[in-house]
Amino acid sequence: MPAQTQRDYVISQFERAYGAKPEHLFQAPGRVNLIGEHTDYNDGFVLPCAIDYKTVIAATARNDNQVHVVAADYQNQKDTFSLDESIENHPEQLWSDYIRGVVKHLQMRGHRLKGANLVVTGNVPQGAGLSSSASLEVVVGETFKGLCQLDISKQDIARIGQEAENQFVGCNCGIMDQMVSACGEAHKAVLLDCRSLETQLIPMPDELSVVIINSNVKRGLVDSEYNTRRLQCEKAAKLLGIEALRDISLKDLEHRKVLLPDETYLRAHHVVSENERTLAAAEALKQGDCSQLSRLMAQSHASMRDDFEITVEPIDFIVATLSDYLKEKGGVRMTGGGFGGCIVALMPHAMVEGACQLIESTYEAHSGIKETIYICTASDGAGEVFHWDESQSSARRVS
Ligand code: GLA
Repeated sequence: MPAQTQRDYVISQFERAYGAKPEHLFQAPGRVNLIGEHTDYNDGFVLPCAIDYKTVIAATARNDNQVHVVAADYQNQKDTFSLDESIENHPEQLWSDYIRGVVKHLQMRGHRLKGANLVVTGNVPQGAGLSSSASLEVVVGETFKGLCQLDISKQDIARIGQEAENQFVGCNCGIMDQMVSACGEAHKAVLLDCRSLETQLIPMPDELSVVIINSNVKRGLVDSEYNTRRLQCEKAAKLLGIEALRDISLKDLEHRKVLLPDETYLRAHHVVSENERTLAAAEALKQGDCSQLSRLMAQSHASMRDDFEITVEPIDFIVATLSDYLKEKGGVRMTGGGFGGCIVALMPHAMVEGACQLIESTYEAHSGIKETIYICTASDGAGEVFHWDESQSSARRVS
């Protein structure tokens, strides 16, 4: 749904639910990771960008301590909870837990909140590995920051979103998704150091499009396999006597290979080499060096396939097909946690139509599954979209 339509839609749903216009509108985007996969929870580097698919909340503060939420995309399901009582998981509605979890973790950090009427909607594809959950967590943090004038940094909103997902929802993700949803910038990729949370904005070359292809392979094993990979990485760091896999170079890893069982070595090899590739890719992006980006993205995909073993055949097919077509003019790899989800490709605008046609004419015939294609633009991170100015009876855009 285009931004304007999404905005009008959430306002009309708010008026329907609460009988008045919302006073504020907040948004937080999904993300696509250009390179740096499974490096975030190893204290390493990632290079994602925020995308122009967002979760949006229309909000008005209440005079009591009740939070009322309507999920416009789930047949207007409702949730109500009190800020004065211990916040528990919702017995039936998973979407509610992202909101309850962020509110609970804001309170746990000592932030004083007030009640609110909220309506939530979003167009980040769900279950595709484009961080619809992180965008929901971050927009909830941003909403309470705005409504209650909280003194809270973007990094803290990201950390609280991750805590809510780890401890309240129960999914053991790293910090990448929330950080880029909070800190992204239009036309820039974000080089994030997941240990210090320092970010460096890298301009995206004007001549490249960001194309995302959802394989629509159901990501069945994703939670258990994700946790297994995390444990294997922790085990590797322990056996190597380091705090995290961030703390060893590829050369040193080769020297100390004997310390690791075969499979553990392969997992470590992916993470350590991926960190080096991510830093090199940030440099190549800065220079607009497409052939280097193309090589690094190809190596990243091969490493996810052969060392980390998180790709699936239909995804390998899309990557091989596009890589053949793009040659050194663009890059392509699987993006996200793995076992399905999306591939990301960077390519000259003039090659986009041909790439789409190629996948449309081969992928379904090969795999029996129809893909979905999104052409994206690197976008701004979370923020307030507007607040309603009573005195002038007009909506003020917040830049
Ligand atoms: C998921 C997690 C992220 C990150 C990626 C893999 O998207 O939410 O924290 O670990 O997988 O790079």
